[in-house]
Amino acid sequence: MKAILLAGGTGSRLYPLTSVLSKQLHAVYDKPMIYYPLTVLIAAGIREFCLISTPADIPQFRKLLSDGRQWGISIEYMEQERPRGIAEAFIIAEEFIGSDNITLMLGDNIFFGGDYFPRAIAEFRGGATIFAYHVKDPYRYGVVEFDQSGSALSIEEKPQNPKSHYAIPGIYIYDNQIVEIARSINPSDRGELEITDVNLEYLRRKQLSVRRLSRGFAWLDAGTSTALQEASAYIEAIERRQGIKIGCPEEAAFIRNFLSLSDLEALIHKMPSCEYRDYLNLVVSEAYRSHG
Ligand code: DAU
Repeated sequence: MKAILLAGGTGSRLYPLTSVLSKQLHAVYDKPMIYYPLTVLIAAGIREFCLISTPADIPQFRKLLSDGRQWGISIEYMEQERPRGIAEAFIIAEEFIGSDNITLMLGDNIFFGGDYFPRAIAEFRGGATIFAYHVKDPYRYGVVEFDQSGSALSIEEKPQNPKSHYAIPGIYIYDNQIVEIARSINPSDRGELEITDVNLEYLRRKQLSVRRLSRGFAWLDAGTSTALQEASAYIEAIERRQGIKIGCPEEAAFIRNFLSLSDLEALIHKMPSCEYRDYLNLVVSEAYRSHG
């Protein structure tokens, strides 16, 4: 399984914050936004990444994440000149995908809790797996309707009259049919290749699995200034209460054995003194304690 991190777009709803810095590089509490989805995917065991963003923003992503080698992963960068839709990512990344399965994650989606994604990725056998999350305002999202047996019945993009309260979050797992499907769909009325049309095609082929994310699981949106502020407050509250960090790629890579203890120590050594470094030092001490 490989992964695409989609981090393009104009971020217009966050103007003027986004006039000089990509939305997905803004801080969510103590880290750049892109760290959160990246960490979820590393924690799920993925090592090969393609990050898609605008030609103007890629140099900054590259400066932050480099080629990923420092975390035992690889990151390639590809350009999307204009936001022509989420599903265009599969056409842009066709060569990167090759003959593999692919997980796509939106760079502005923040998740916390449970092991849904590592499990879904480990158990993935083909077709498509997407997720459903109960929200108050489903009309802002892709919305899935279930039949009485819990199977997906319909999917609609931002419906005015949603058929359920289940929104589809921005993480999608596909088999290798995805490139052919992305190439076969037409742009929507808003001129975009819609991820919802991709999911509808898998539904039509009876190859779509929709997993519900339970109560208590957190899916945060960081698309407006208020939502960004709320996401920061949420992350801060959990981190301070639990003494852990959410969205720390070094820690996830270490837990997954992509980095050895000495690799992690070498990384820490290069960091300036800061809370982030203090936290990773704690991770190292705990590892020494538990391994004796
Ligand atoms: O957040 C989940 C929702 O994401 C889903 O429920 C919807 O079905 C899906 O269409 C999408 O809805 P949004 O309206 O929130 O998508 P938005 O246009 O805001 O794009 C989401 C992210 O993807 C955003 O951070 C920018 C990036 N993006 C988007 C497009 C359309 C790109 O990098 N390139 C693009 O062409």
